[in-house]
Amino acid sequence: MFRWESDGDGIVTLTMDDPDSSANTMNARFGTDLEATLDRLEAEKDSISGVVLTSAKKTFFAGGNLEDLRSYGPSEAQKAYDQSQAIKTALRRLETFGRPVVSAINGAALGGGLEIALATHHRIALDAKGSKIGLPEVTLGLLPGGGGVVRTVRLLGIADALLQVLLQGQQRNPRAAQETGLVDEVVDSPEELISTAKEWLKANPEAVQPWDVKGYKIPGGTPSVPKFAANLPAFPANLRKQLKNAPMPAPYNIMCAAVEGSQVDIDNAAKIESRYFADLVVGQVSTNMINAFFFDLQSINKGGSRPDGYEKYTAQKVVVLGAGMMGAGIAYSCAVAGIEVVLKDVSLANAEKGKDYSKKILDKAVSRGKQTQEKADAILARITPSEKPEDAQGADLVIEAVFESPDLKKQVFAEIYPYLSADAVLGSNTSTLPITDLATGVERPEDFVGLHFFSPVDKMPLLEIIAGERTSDATLAKAVDIALQIRKTPIVVSDSRGFFTSRVIGTFINEAVAMLGEGAAPAAIEQAGSQAGYPAPPLQLMDELTLTLPQHIREETRKGVEAAGGTWVGHPSDAIVDRMVELGRKGRSSGAGFYEYDAEGKRTHLWSGLQEQFHGATDSDGPVPFEDMKERMLFAEALETVKCFDEGVLHTIADANIGSIMGIGFPAWTGGVAQYIDGYPGGLPGFVERSRILAKAYGDRFDPPASLVEKAEKGQNLRDSL
Ligand code: NAI
Repeated sequence: MFRWESDGDGIVTLTMDDPDSSANTMNARFGTDLEATLDRLEAEKDSISGVVLTSAKKTFFAGGNLEDLRSYGPSEAQKAYDQSQAIKTALRRLETFGRPVVSAINGAALGGGLEIALATHHRIALDAKGSKIGLPEVTLGLLPGGGGVVRTVRLLGIADALLQVLLQGQQRNPRAAQETGLVDEVVDSPEELISTAKEWLKANPEAVQPWDVKGYKIPGGTPSVPKFAANLPAFPANLRKQLKNAPMPAPYNIMCAAVEGSQVDIDNAAKIESRYFADLVVGQVSTNMINAFFFDLQSINKGGSRPDGYEKYTAQKVVVLGAGMMGAGIAYSCAVAGIEVVLKDVSLANAEKGKDYSKKILDKAVSRGKQTQEKADAILARITPSEKPEDAQGADLVIEAVFESPDLKKQVFAEIYPYLSADAVLGSNTSTLPITDLATGVERPEDFVGLHFFSPVDKMPLLEIIAGERTSDATLAKAVDIALQIRKTPIVVSDSRGFFTSRVIGTFINEAVAMLGEGAAPAAIEQAGSQAGYPAPPLQLMDELTLTLPQHIREETRKGVEAAGGTWVGHPSDAIVDRMVELGRKGRSSGAGFYEYDAEGKRTHLWSGLQEQFHGATDSDGPVPFEDMKERMLFAEALETVKCFDEGVLHTIADANIGSIMGIGFPAWTGGVAQYIDGYPGGLPGFVERSRILAKAYGDRFDPPASLVEKAEKGQNLRDSL
């Protein structure tokens, strides 16, 4: 794995090049080969003046082997500890064998890649496109267990190491990494990379790490543990705010490893780091997060749910119909991706207002130095506001985002249809109307597809693609390509009222509202939502969405069920929502909801009349234990997801997990709504058993679906059974 080349000056260039993989990772071979290379470096030390460490791959080093890391069982902490210690012992040998070592970072150095580079005496990065540097382990529920905590603390000081590198897992381009202090130099060409590295070696024959120099002190000083602990709530305030007591152990383990490790020498600090690392590796949360944020996301970004056999599609010109909140955001995302956009509304003034939305975002980006004026102008120039259907001439994509009315949607498609290219994709951003029904209103239903964006479009990464009964596979493939073209994360689902995301999020909110009727304190319900890990507590979210929306969806769904000869079963929350609407408390947009709002529309506090108004509104009566509150929200969404699989609305685990986390805020620590079921204590049988207990206490809606019971009996989990 390490190619060895010496030059006439005694400089050894070690080129990492795993022959069995397209990227270098910390697999078993790496460990063995690193040991062998170190043996040789030590043996031939006298003829070596310095070492350049680089890579033959596109990336410098891809990091830890996640396949391996996700497979650790609860009883394998010692194995994880030993593995972490083994790599650190080797890296310690590299930085202390007596000759200077430079990392010539030719591409991304994330996680283990940066940890290797941190164990060298100097880091030079190539400013290659897409090259990222950082320690993103926290985003996978882990901590950098190859010396990443120990060395960033010693290089940057504890505050910067935690806040700039470890706790949020920022991935930076080489120049930003240089500003942070993670790399020392940045060069522009691969040739320069190696020559600069060699020049540095010649100028620094005696290099040692700063922490191996006598009298070394951690930059910014070493905090005392009690003092640090006392300041904990205030110090990384953003951490607490971010976690809201959700069960995310990684940030806490990182903090403990950093603080405790700063009190001792580097070798003992390494042991502390390994201990906290092992604790995370054997825990369920890291398995959940690795599954979702690495494997599921990777599968989706490779077009996981895209039908096979169709050529890649690139949209050239899009007509966005409706320049309101959604249309304006969609126009922006398309223009950023280089697509020519016609933004059409009923009047030019409306359309221009929609374009202004992009201008505001771009002005802000320019003023913050995140975008150049030239690029911002070019993006804006791609958006043509319009009121005329003929401006759609030649468009190969339509994204409709007018009011939520089937007749209006039908009408706006008919209006522009004559001007479109013959095989244009006809997309609708409806949030509630079934795609199959809407498709009956257009001339080519096979080209009609749901493109469900989330608000605000420029920030929300998910695109839920919905196949109606007549949507062709070719159109679905194009829709996935378009999503990736505009840098969204696509999931593909089949038609159903509320599709996947709205259907599932509705159950979360309904469950929370039902608890009001059982006597649960409103503040406790909100707290339970936050502690379960939801980014927005349920009553707050309901106010944002407006209470008439679920009412309307419920009514339409009821009609659908009854028209199909079924029996409509309501939810205990229905009466509460109806009463709130009767009282004029429809949510933030009406100035009052579960919360009170001031004159500027700012949320002030929960409405004091909630308990008086609703306690006893449902059959079951409280008090609801706090753990049950959390689990009822999570289980309601998980059980609805199983129904979506049973009904053929969902097709892959990755779509369920990523769709739930990125679209509707299902807690990230769970690894997504399907992974939550698999990762529940006791696995799928444990989940089924708990569902039955909840069903007994709170109603039949918690009864586990037969498909789930069958899988549990067969000893399967969801991930492997699909
Ligand atoms: P909005 O009310 O902000 O914008 C609708 C726009 O359509 C208005 O600017 C209106 O002037 C325009 N319009 C009406 N008739 C038109 C016509 N004949 N031709 C061209 N434009 C016309 O609504 P919003 O929130 O942007 O929603 C649009 C669609 O997106 C709806 O179908 C909604 O269900 C869906 N959606 C909304 C989400 C949200 O969070 N607001 C999320 C996902 C989907």
